[in-house]
Amino acid sequence: MRKAIIAGNWKMNKTPAEAAELVSELIPLVKDADCDVVVCVPAADFTVVGEAIKGTNIKLGAQNVHFAKSGAYTGELSADMLKACGVEYVVIGHSERRQYFGETDKTVNLRTLAAVEAGLTPIICVGEMKDEREAGYTDIIVEYQTLMALHGLTDEAIKAAVIAYEPVWAIGTGLTATDEQANETIGVIRKAIERKYGKDVADAVRIQYGGSMNPKNVKGLMAQPEIDGGLIGGASLKAPDFSQVVLYNK
Ligand code: PGA
Repeated sequence: MRKAIIAGNWKMNKTPAEAAELVSELIPLVKDADCDVVVCVPAADFTVVGEAIKGTNIKLGAQNVHFAKSGAYTGELSADMLKACGVEYVVIGHSERRQYFGETDKTVNLRTLAAVEAGLTPIICVGEMKDEREAGYTDIIVEYQTLMALHGLTDEAIKAAVIAYEPVWAIGTGLTATDEQANETIGVIRKAIERKYGKDVADAVRIQYGGSMNPKNVKGLMAQPEIDGGLIGGASLKAPDFSQVVLYNK
């Protein structure tokens, strides 16, 4: 049995003061969650959020990580730096990074390897664009992105990793994949992992759905057998909304 994992992706939102307010509202609301709860916050908020969630069931996540140990990479953060800030999870290869910041399947793989080596849990994002789905290429795209991202990891590391299937056309648009579409494509991802790494690895890895997941649609999505959680953007910025997603089974 895979334990569900619901992660908030705050993206480039919340100053430290706003972050402190949001997380203090969130802590009591999600304390009885049955799933793993993560907030992936901007680096500017690591300290306040990290302090606030000490001793709670909420874990700290980042939104990106560089693959080098250190060096001349202006604006980047290493996996060791994230670890030192109390970060446990890191989003890698989000479609916004692929679209706006030149992230490639190769760099997603390098970042994933660096994260795992430092003891961080990667949340690896994969997903097709609208025209790719319409052309019938969804399966090929998500299989390729997934296998490229995982290349070079040990079986144990893959079992512990999290994958987020996020159809790009569903992110921030209010359009959600249907429960069946999300379940089917996540099944395709799991099958690809099974073909390459075997059934015990594929059965262990947790695969989230992401893309306009909210209090209204979470129950239907989470009722699908392949869906092990969610990566939540917009709805993670309000404590009542995010807590309702986290408590989807209550
Ligand atoms: P959304 O974002 O929930 O606002 O669609 C999801 C994501 O980008 O991870």
